[in-house]
Amino acid sequence: MEKIVESALNLVREKLGDEPTGHDYWHAWRVWNLAKRIAGEENCKNELRVQLAAILHDLNDDKVRAIPQENLRRQPAENGLPKAEADAIMGIIEKISFRKQKQGEKISREVGIVRDADRLDAMGAIGIARCFATGAVIGRVIHSPDGNDSISHFHEKLLKLKDMMHTETGRKIAEKRHRYMVEFLDRFFREWEGKM
Ligand code: NI
Repeated sequence: MEKIVESALNLVREKLGDEPTGHDYWHAWRVWNLAKRIAGEENCKNELRVQLAAILHDLNDDKVRAIPQENLRRQPAENGLPKAEADAIMGIIEKISFRKQKQGEKISREVGIVRDADRLDAMGAIGIARCFATGAVIGRVIHSPDGNDSISHFHEKLLKLKDMMHTETGRKIAEKRHRYMVEFLDRFFREWEGKM
């Protein structure tokens, strides 16, 4: 493993190690892993850039704010990355967030790959686990027909992710993860009504 990748992983482990809403170190690890796979299958030339953006992407999240922006800017530079490269990585990270996406905006291939990897981690079995973990932290009940519940979050966000993929590889993985969430919801409601 490249030294700089290792030190980025260490930084995230230190800052987000036990973050309880599913933005913890292992989220960064899974996004990194998926981003590498997608970059490989999509023949992306800037794989190191993709890897570092994937690992560091949530240090910039408003929900987390583990370290100030400046600190993050310095981090890749301190590991011998040229400034232009560090800026490119920051540029990718700034465009990852769900909320910051603008209708019809043009994005780079690298942003598409990291965004897909991050969104895929909100889908499937992992996505289900993260949805309820976050729900507990922010005071949502599991399900209530009156709202403010984690099940509603599937309809508000998670079931929309499949149609928001940027890469072909992302779309393929998303299809499977989406299907699993639909099956889960179907079963959930059958159990909810005492039919199973
Ligand atoms: Ni994330």
